[in-house]
Amino acid sequence: MNKIAIVRCEHFNAAHRLHNKNWSDQKNKDVFGKCNNPNYHGHNYDLEVKVIGTCDPETGYVIDTKILSDLIKKYVLDRYDHKNLNLDTQEFKDVNPTAENIAISIYNILKPKLEASLELKIKLYETPRNFVEYPY
Ligand code: NI
Repeated sequence: MNKIAIVRCEHFNAAHRLHNKNWSDQKNKDVFGKCNNPNYHGHNYDLEVKVIGTCDPETGYVIDTKILSDLIKKYVLDRYDHKNLNLDTQEFKDVNPTAENIAISIYNILKPKLEASLELKIKLYETPRNFVEYPY
């Protein structure tokens, strides 16, 4: 059976601060730049959720886009949209909420919600010109 990918695009806004508490203020500033701002700052994240699999012979779908969008809304957007990632989530209390770590977290949230036969890939844009892919 031919495998095919279906992609759902979503969007959320969230605040964060990148900081390593084991480093000096100067080193944090040097490494993280504006993303180290003590009072946090926001990003407009664009999220692409790609699901890869074969088409169900009865529906012709890899996954019903309504089901996929409901999963993303319930487990990702409701969790991260309009949140301060450092303060409002458990997963980024001690882990820097970089685009990399957010994408890995989204993958780990969604993967168990999908049928085991389906592959999942996450693309997360922190700016129009910077994005990460997991798994790559
Ligand atoms: Ni930032």
